[in-house]
Amino acid sequence: MSKRIVFVSQSGNVMKSTLAAAMAVEATINDLDCAIADLDIEHRTSLQLSEQRSSLGITPTLKVYGVSSAKQAIDCFNDEALQIIDAPSRATSATTVISKNADLIIQPVPPSKKDMDLAIESFYKLSDAGIDVNKMLFVLTRVGSQVELKNAINYLSQVQINNQKINILTSALWEKVAYRGAINDGYVITETQYATLNGNAKAVIHQILTLLLK
Ligand SMILES: Nc1ncnc2c1ncn2[C@@H]1O[C@H](COP(=O)(O)OP(=O)(O)OP(=O)(O)O)[C@@H](O)[C@H]1O
Ligand SMILES: [Mg+2]
Repeated sequence: MSKRIVFVSQSGNVMKSTLAAAMAVEATINDLDCAIADLDIEHRTSLQLSEQRSSLGITPTLKVYGVSSAKQAIDCFNDEALQIIDAPSRATSATTVISKNADLIIQPVPPSKKDMDLAIESFYKLSDAGIDVNKMLFVLTRVGSQVELKNAINYLSQVQINNQKINILTSALWEKVAYRGAINDGYVITETQYATLNGNAKAVIHQILTLLLK
């Protein structure tokens, strides 16, 4: 049976495309058929990374469909076991449509008050549109220190929508020059030169996949 994850956010540069690509790589190396629908018409980050990997001979290659609307994003898949939609930032109406057709809705969120407040507001809007709060997940990204992480988890865990808390992934992703460098070179965040950083990224991705497949 297919499962679908969508990465959405109001804020830009929060690691949506970064997580989508790393998840596709991890799924593929674990023999899970996987594709990404790249809904970001302006940036085409996922599509470009896939082309960069193919041209440099980096494996596994990524299967990415470039789509131009929420409807196309939903319709483009071919029964892949794991279907990932990489949405652009600030795409409010498309976000609602793709979220209604998802098993898990992930908002990567850096630990600034501005980003966290925007992310909270987005989940309120999705709930108002009838989407189940249980399908929503915050993943803290670009975190600078343990104290910052603790404070951010504390802030987000106060949020309740219809008396329900929103899920927060216990693993988080750190702001690291090596992640940026890997992406520049066509790799994903589980493929840096540093085993600890790769392990940290894998932990986040496997925790998400476990939630999705349970
Ligand atoms: N953990 C990290 N540490 C340092 N730099 C990072 C990290 N994650 C991502 N980056 C850098 O930030 C850039 C933007 O990340 P990404 O494209 O994943 O964000 P996005 O949420 O998809 O942005 P957009 O809203 O434009 O779609 C990456 O290309 C990379 O250079
Ligand atoms: Mg993106």
